[in-house]
Amino acid sequence: MNLLRRILYKWIFRSLANQLLVTYLLVITIALVVVTLWALVAIRKESLTDLEHTMEVEAVNLSLEIDNDLVLDSPLSHQRIQAAVERLSSRLGYSFVVVDKDGRVLADSQPIVQKENLSNEQEINEALAGVVSKSTRSEPESNQNMFYVATPVRSMGETTGVIRVGVQLTQIEQRLQKDLIVFLEIILATGVITVFISLLLARRVTRPVREMSALAKQISISGDFSAFLPMHRKDEIGELCLSFNQMIGRLREQERVRQEFISNASHELKTPTMAIGSVVEALQAGAAEDPKLRHQFLGSLERLVERQTSLIQDLLDISKLDSGLDSNWQEEVNVVQLVNESVEQLRPQADKKELTVSTQITQDGLGGGELIVLGNASQLQRAIVNILQNAINYTPAGGSVTISVRPVRGERLEIKFQDTGVGIDPADLPHIYDRFYRADKARTRETGGTGLGLAIVREIIARHHGTLDVESQVGKGSTFTVQLALRQTGSQE
Ligand SMILES: Nc1ncnc2c1ncn2[C@@H]1O[C@H](COP(=O)(O)OP(=O)(O)O)[C@@H](O)[C@H]1O
Ligand SMILES: [Mg+2]
Repeated sequence: MNLLRRILYKWIFRSLANQLLVTYLLVITIALVVVTLWALVAIRKESLTDLEHTMEVEAVNLSLEIDNDLVLDSPLSHQRIQAAVERLSSRLGYSFVVVDKDGRVLADSQPIVQKENLSNEQEINEALAGVVSKSTRSEPESNQNMFYVATPVRSMGETTGVIRVGVQLTQIEQRLQKDLIVFLEIILATGVITVFISLLLARRVTRPVREMSALAKQISISGDFSAFLPMHRKDEIGELCLSFNQMIGRLREQERVRQEFISNASHELKTPTMAIGSVVEALQAGAAEDPKLRHQFLGSLERLVERQTSLIQDLLDISKLDSGLDSNWQEEVNVVQLVNESVEQLRPQADKKELTVSTQITQDGLGGGELIVLGNASQLQRAIVNILQNAINYTPAGGSVTISVRPVRGERLEIKFQDTGVGIDPADLPHIYDRFYRADKARTRETGGTGLGLAIVREIIARHHGTLDVESQVGKGSTFTVQLALRQTGSQE
């Protein structure tokens, strides 16, 4: 028994479909049983009422036949009453008893169970008082459940006797049993149909869940994001499928970006490495003998190694940003100081290209406070240097670069980098933040950019929940604008 229960438990909780199936079955069985019980009770009540009416009518018919004899009250009239009672009883199958106004039995269709005086029996008593009365009781002599209807017989306004009609309740019970069997058959048939429908329904409801779990398993084993779930539902499970597919799409996109990044990075690393190889080869082949050539080749070796180093540094930075491992993003950063330091760091390059670099700091509206933001100082410096480096790189000799810092509505801090450089083609604008994207491949490679500079800037600004915008006109120059939240000092009454 215990084992059976364990097996059943296991089977039910093994799948959602089984749980649904059992739920459907339970609900329908309970509903059917309740309806059946209710129907049986109603039928029984109805049958008894019907029977009561019929018995009353028969009693009234009999009373019309015997009322004279009741009044006469002679042995002969008693015989006639007995004859009428027996005739009616054998025709209808009910038992009849006639008593006089004192409750004495005058006639009985079942002489064996005769009693002398029945005035103690409830229904007879009530009928003698003038009302039609019924009762259900088990007779100790015959050990049978009886249903009685007792009707008074009247003659000229007076009750002259009572006719009691009785019937064995087993007759009604048998009819109810037949009904019960029909009901059980209906329940069984409905049950079988329900099992089939529930099975179909349960499998239909749980199919997407099974598909989803199979796909998730397949993805976790193979790491292949190429398959999607079929979408054929609009309900909550359909929504879940949609989210699942969106998640797969997202993972697939991430995977694609990652692959592309690796292949770009390898390519970018390979180019200078091969160049270094050929310079070394040339030196070995004899170029080292000639002092002029040697100087030239060693110079390009130096530049190539420098380029390689900055590329590797950029790659390290970006992967650090991606992994989110950087520690403190809540330092108090003095932006004006960062800008000044960055300008000083790049001034030699600007001087070499004969560019004027100037800064404009506005602190109006701060009530003497400082331009402080919360964030990571070295990352912010990196972002500022990268943008400034670009402005210097992409502005021809004689041009100018202006950096202005100002508070915006006391809430945000704006850093604007304006140059008079070559500008960016509108077609390139949407891509300049992409990793390894360079607008002009030939020129930028020569100026030494890695194509990662603005990608790093974008990540850093995003980390600070800031915004980064660019406006540019080809041949006129570009303006990069960074906005960051100012630290709220709480002294702004
Ligand atoms: N101030 C600027 N003026 C003109 N073009 C710019 C400027 N800043 C960025 N760009 C363009 O955006 C591209 C991407 O910039 P970046 O990510 O820093 O890569 P790079 O290593 O080439 O500098 C650059 O190759 C360049 O074409
Ligand atoms: Mg750059």
